[in-house]
Formats: sequence, C-alpha cells, structure tokens
Amino acid sequence: MTNNIGVTSSSSVYFGKTDALLKQLLPEGRVIVISDSNIDRTHHELLTRYEYILIGQGEQAKSLATLDNIYRKLIEMGADRTTFILGIGGGIVTDIAGFVASTYMRGVKFGFVTTTLLGAVDASVGGKNGVNVGGFKNMVGLFSQPQFVVCDASLLSTLPKRELRAGLAEVIKTAILGDAELFEILEKSTFNTLCKESALLEDVITRCVRVKASVVAEDEREGGRRRILNLGHTIAHAIEKSTSQFSHGEAVAIGLYHITKSALAQKMIGESDANRILSLIEQYGFSTALPTDLNQLLKAIEGDKKRKGDSLHLIFPTAIGAVEDRVVAYKDLKTIFDNI
Ligand code: GLY
Repeated sequence: MTNNIGVTSSSSVYFGKTDALLKQLLPEGRVIVISDSNIDRTHHELLTRYEYILIGQGEQAKSLATLDNIYRKLIEMGADRTTFILGIGGGIVTDIAGFVASTYMRGVKFGFVTTTLLGAVDASVGGKNGVNVGGFKNMVGLFSQPQFVVCDASLLSTLPKRELRAGLAEVIKTAILGDAELFEILEKSTFNTLCKESALLEDVITRCVRVKASVVAEDEREGGRRRILNLGHTIAHAIEKSTSQFSHGEAVAIGLYHITKSALAQKMIGESDANRILSLIEQYGFSTALPTDLNQLLKAIEGDKKRKGDSLHLIFPTAIGAVEDRVVAYKDLKTIFDNI
C-alpha cells in the first residue's frame, strides 16, 4: 500500500522510492523536468530520463528573470497545455517549478520530487510558490497545489551536513508549534543519529508533513491559522535581508531562538518550556546570536511596513506544541525584542 498524506483534496505527499512512485504518479505523455545544477551533479541519471531545464542555485535564482528564461525555453521546446512539469530539487526549485507550471499557458499540471530536508518538511508542501522581487522574499507568487510531492528519504543521504541541519530548523519549528512528541524525539536524539538512522529521519519527516498538512487543510491561503507556520520567520527574513551569511534554515533557527526569548521575557511561555526550546536549538548545533545589530533587523522588518499597515502578526511559542498569533504594532517591536 502506498504511504501517503493528503494535503488538499487534489494534492498528496507520497513517501517511498522515487522510481516506483514516479511510475505510479506521472501521467502518460510529455514530462519536462525543472531542476538545478546541483541535482544534475548528484542525480544526473534521474534527470536524463526526461527533457529537463536547469536553473541556478541560491536565493538569487528565485527571480522573475529565471521565470522568463524558463518560459522561453518551454516555448522553444514546444511545451503545450498537456505537458506535465516535474520539479526535482529543494525549496527554490519547487517554488520556481510550481510558479512556472501554474502560469505557463494559464497553467499546466505539475508535481515535485523533493530532494532536501527543508523541502520535504516545508517548502514543497502546501502550494506556496513565489519569487523574490526588489529584495523582498516571495513578493510575487501564488497558491497552487502540486498533484503530488514525492518524498524519498534515501535521496537525502547525499545532502551536505549544513543543508541537513538547515532543514532541521524547520523540523524544530514544526515540533514547537504542533507536535510535542516530535519535540521529545528530537530531544532524545542527536544531529549525527538523525543523519545516520534513515527510519528515524523518515518518522521525523512524516510527522512534520502531517502537522503541515493539517494546518494547510484548514487554511490553504493563509487567512488565519496557516500564519503559525511563520514561527521564527519574521526575524529570519530580516536576517536574510541584512546578511548573506546564513541559509534560510539557519536564519529560522536564530529566529526561533529569539522569538522564544521574547516570549519568555513577556511571560507568554513558562521558563522550563522556553529553556527546553533554547537548549534543543543549541543541541542541534545552530548559531543563535543575532548576526547584526537589533536596530538594523528592526529596520529590515519595518521595510515591509508599507504593504502590511501599522502592525504585523508575530507568532510566539506558549508551550511545547503550542503557539499564539499576536498582532504587534511596529512601534512596539523594539520593546518586544529589546530584552532578548
Ligand atoms: N512555509 C510556510 C507555509 O508554507 O505557509
């Protein structure tokens, strides 16, 4: 029996071996893969089974220029509305592939093979696709669900340690906001054990997808509850905007650390739970210090002010497995983060 988790009525995450799952899930007809040069190096044979288009790596590839390039290639290749787009890669590839597929000729069907831990537990699941514009992350995009996401934990064994650790930041985020048992599993484990024990890693991924799927099923377009998935992300995005030193996951770990300290300072979370969160982030080897001066980060957060009015939603942990969504005025941000 196929092991899968439904995200919406038309989109599911499938766990297992890529080859067998693609045989089962891909439609008859033309398939064009969108991937990147890193996957071309590590999984070349998989790409060569299809026609494929490669994009560059890193956040700078999430741009309108990349989209334009792909649209032109698809036109040259004669892709039409019956073509199926398969994104094979991490979060950047799946964001781009989902955007292209949802807009090329007003939309063609698409699916993903996720090849990073961060992609498996967050980016590839839930139908958010977007590109960065003018230094703003995911400023232009759409909600559009892939028909399937293939999650093959054996593909993750080729990941560099730094990349795996970055994915663990989103795993820790998920445990804090919605799975206290997962939090305990992480506390009892170590980074090295998780890297080595594929059954344990698979269990961790499955739990994260379950949490994310239940949140997305309730609020696909982020009108309310889905906002909790942004735990740690306000600070993370400000860090990503202010320095190129950290990957998204690494910035999320710093964001989780400081939002927890802020929740503790405001007595929104008990000392024991807050200390467990802070210790877990340290246990997995993340940097936790703010890389730039707080004022600079606040400026980066306030840079988004124009599009969001005078306040923003901040998600605070209130216990292991629980969070609170608070509307905070920009003018109060300094006080909120001053004593962290
Ligand atoms: N990564 C947050 C979300 O999918 O809503």
